[in-house]
Amino acid sequence: MDRQEEANDVFDILVAERKYPRETYPKFKKIILLIFPVVLLLFSIAGLRFIRNLRLSSIDNIENAHDHDHSILGHLPYSEISKEKLVLIEPNIEVHIDMRESLLKMRQDAKNDGILLVFLSGYRSINLQREIFYSLKSKRNQVAAERARVSAPPGYSEHSTGFAIDIGDFNNPKTDFDVEFENTDAFMWLKNNAAKYHFKLSFNKNNQNVDYEPWHWRYEGSIEALKVFEASNRK
Ligand code: DAL
Ligand code: ZN
Repeated sequence: MDRQEEANDVFDILVAERKYPRETYPKFKKIILLIFPVVLLLFSIAGLRFIRNLRLSSIDNIENAHDHDHSILGHLPYSEISKEKLVLIEPNIEVHIDMRESLLKMRQDAKNDGILLVFLSGYRSINLQREIFYSLKSKRNQVAAERARVSAPPGYSEHSTGFAIDIGDFNNPKTDFDVEFENTDAFMWLKNNAAKYHFKLSFNKNNQNVDYEPWHWRYEGSIEALKVFEASNRK
């Protein structure tokens, strides 16, 4: 073997023994050591942001459930009952067909107990509610919030569902639509018996935005009615 062959031989063995070229291995290691903490830091930041966003969105959902129930001035939205579900129970009083039987039975049973209930107002169309709300608001020189204490804005009245009924005492007409109705025998009877017929007082004394209405009762004796008043009962 001449000197050149000897030199090549040594060179071949040295190269073959190296896993990495002698120069690049330490550089590669350095880069990994530099990049790894940066990548770790970026992942940690992204993870923390993800957790923070999850928390914020769940807080937001809870707030939405309470604050954004779509109510206006204390009144929840209600759709108008379809015409085919309405029945006339006496001149000028129409109600949802589902509550007719129960309502008439309640009046009859009250009568049997010597109490004469009078139906003052049942179903009201959204257009009629608009008339009542805006014309009376204007006539009485009231701002919307004041008017809403006694009358729901159009599209927000239980009366438009056909499931609400205003009741008076035949012997005390002066108390019609008046808080004084609560001192009548009719109200006392309703207070003690209305639940048997699935009627519930809608606006009690604790209501914040709407005045107490001892004459206004709503029917909750069918699945449809329960669905209609689900949001209100959750408040
Ligand atoms: N008087 C009740 C609030 C209504 O107008 O529906
Ligand atoms: Zn009413």
